Amino acid sequence: MSETVKLIYRDKCIELPLIEGAEGELAIDIGKLRQKTGLITFDPGYANTGSCQSAITFMDGERGILRYRGYSIEELAEKSIFTETAYLLIHGALPTRRELNHFSVLLNDNSLIHEDMQAFFQNFPRASHPMGILASMVTALRSFYPAYSITNEEELNLIVARLMSKIRTMAAMSYKISKGHKVIYPRPDLTYCANFLNMMFDNPVKPYRIDDTLVEALNVFWVLHADHEQNCSTSTVRMVGSGKVNIYAAISAGISALWGPLHGGANQSVIEMLMDIQKNGGDVQKAVMRAKDKNDPFRLMGFGHRVYKTYDPRAKIMKRMCDKVLRKLKISDPLLDIALKLEEIALQDSYFIDHNLYPNVDFYSGIVLRAMGIPTNMFTVMFAIGRLPGWIAQWKESLDDPKWRLSRPRQIYIGNTVQKYIPIDEREVAGQS
Ligand code: CMC
Repeated sequence: MSETVKLIYRDKCIELPLIEGAEGELAIDIGKLRQKTGLITFDPGYANTGSCQSAITFMDGERGILRYRGYSIEELAEKSIFTETAYLLIHGALPTRRELNHFSVLLNDNSLIHEDMQAFFQNFPRASHPMGILASMVTALRSFYPAYSITNEEELNLIVARLMSKIRTMAAMSYKISKGHKVIYPRPDLTYCANFLNMMFDNPVKPYRIDDTLVEALNVFWVLHADHEQNCSTSTVRMVGSGKVNIYAAISAGISALWGPLHGGANQSVIEMLMDIQKNGGDVQKAVMRAKDKNDPFRLMGFGHRVYKTYDPRAKIMKRMCDKVLRKLKISDPLLDIALKLEEIALQDSYFIDHNLYPNVDFYSGIVLRAMGIPTNMFTVMFAIGRLPGWIAQWKESLDDPKWRLSRPRQIYIGNTVQKYIPIDEREVAGQS
């Protein structure tokens, strides 16, 4: 018989089953709790709630471990290319050479977007945030590519290729249009990462020279961002998807969720924070003092994580990449010096030590993106392109899960008890008797 836990409540005692994960983590299955006791659980921010069983990504926040389908993030960042990692996440196994080649052909074949969609880009106000544009355009894909079904691997490959390729093209296109420049189309001879850089920076009068180190940096950036189990945007994709909405709407909801500065938007906020510190004379100590002050809403952006209570393993890799890129390009970025100083001071400060606050992936990624020439307001779009395989894999897993139901949490109501309706002419005006 499997293990249970006893819940004693007033004069009742019920047993609830324990579920054990592949890495030994335990959860209480409360699926029958309300039916047996009338009780619900209360867990704001879901910090103690497992929303699903998943075989995609494993995280151990105490030991700083991240694995996709059992493969360590360190090994994937060093050896894998982004399209292969995407395939691994979505299909559950590394592709053979033939499977990866076939996937690359599909990515190439689906890399153009319908020419009519360009008109949409032209009509957004020039100052629009690219995340808002991307979320709208992804929803619009549904109107341009309405028919799809996912009943076999080939159909899954097609929808994945369509999303991954078109979103990358749309991101680069929105940048070009925002600059008032000619749109650059994808090229069949370039890899996924090189193609993106070329679409962003090639120009009819100044051809872009593709730098291998930048391609490698972008590849590592996207591999590191490809999935992160049940974070805010992924949970959003699963939740929106649970209503059986089409995949474009679910992914668009994920993009909107990612936008916030506590989540994917942190990479933009980190650079803005470092620039502010630079503008104010580089006083790093002052930023640390502000972050500790409970009367000041300021937080050190790029620090802290809901799950990691140690150094984010992705941040370690990103920091090394940052050094490599700046050395290769012979750039000395003053923001890197500020970031290094900030990290050094924060990691010795008792507030950060006691709160287990360490740099997360966003702390160094902005410096790498800046070196590539990516504008700050596009940073979160870069994160979104990277997270796409994870969203698709998690969405697909939820559809295939026989236990998956419409997401519908409950609440503890704290408003008025029953009120009698008073006709408008009989209501007292506040302050008049
Ligand atoms: N600077 C200063 N204090 C902090 C910070 C920070 N960056 N992060 C958390 N704290 C403090 C917070 O004030 C609270 O203190 P106390 O218990 O004394 O009131 C305590 O730590 C716990 O904070 P919390 O907000 O309850 O923790 P959380 O697990 O809900 O928050 C977080 C996680 C990522 C939202 C938070 O650490 C944060 O706001 N960090 C800055 C934004 C950021 O870098 N986000 C990117 C996350 S990684 C990318 C991704 O996966 O999305």
